Amino acid sequence: MSEHKPRVLVTREVFDETLDYLRAHCEVIDNQKDLPYAPDALAAALAACDGLMCALTDRVDAALLARAPRLKAVANIAVGYNNIDVPACTARGVMATNTPGVLDDSTADLAWALMLGTARRITEVERRIRAGEWTGWRLKQWLGVDVHHATLGIVGMGRIGQAIARRALGFEMKVLYHNRKRIAPELERKCNAAYVSLDELLTQSDFVVLQVPYSPETHHLIGAAQLKQMKRSAILINSTRGGVVDDAALVAALKQGTIRGAGLDVYENEPKLNPEFLGLDNVVLAPHIGSSTEATRKAMAMLAARNLVAALKGEVPPNLV
Ligand code: DGY
Repeated sequence: MSEHKPRVLVTREVFDETLDYLRAHCEVIDNQKDLPYAPDALAAALAACDGLMCALTDRVDAALLARAPRLKAVANIAVGYNNIDVPACTARGVMATNTPGVLDDSTADLAWALMLGTARRITEVERRIRAGEWTGWRLKQWLGVDVHHATLGIVGMGRIGQAIARRALGFEMKVLYHNRKRIAPELERKCNAAYVSLDELLTQSDFVVLQVPYSPETHHLIGAAQLKQMKRSAILINSTRGGVVDDAALVAALKQGTIRGAGLDVYENEPKLNPEFLGLDNVVLAPHIGSSTEATRKAMAMLAARNLVAALKGEVPPNLV
């Protein structure tokens, strides 16, 4: 880095320790009030910046990059980077980074929370208790389905998919997975998981968990036709990205009983989710909190900061995408 510290823009509120680290290396424009930038305001703020630390709520595209002539690096505080046009960054010589690894276990835990919560109807019955509807124990009261010994199908067997599979060992589940590429045999053994086609996975699984990144290829990977392939007793979990599921088709399937239920952490057009979800009891809704534990979010922000500083020092950042 030159004697002049590079100037970086941090688009959202971050932890104090993240800002301290950044300030040791850079001049920092922070946003601790956490007021999201509109696209024009972001472009104006970025015009004289060398680095950008952003979140999945910020769109980094060719139009923005054209208005940021000094920009050398973009550090996303997320493992997913579908908010960043990577080819456009590459074309302008801007490095883009993400935060893989540090959020795998927390995100896998949340997928499990959604599985268990949907299977045992936790949010529905809690609403009923709060509404004063619980009048006493009954044998056939609010029956759920078992997770243990059921068949779990994981679509997308990267690090998070594997962490979800490893947790299934304790529940003695049969684990199927589908992935663009088959994973190494020793990883399959560790996860006790069998590779199958997407069709087989959809028709055989009691729980289908989606963990593929969002891209044009995975847009509406699960739509009306795929939901029809699933068992009527099956539960769908989307803990990856909105858009992988056709939410309108999912609403219809949940209403018609095409599948039993769904646990969702992500939505098309979030935070404006399809309002019909709100009226359904057989869906558990979470507000994109997959990685949201204090330790994990701190680790993500710090990793993004380290990536940004490394890139601005002219090094190859550890998580260059
Ligand atoms: C990610 O890292 O992609 C998460 O969705 C952010 O919380």
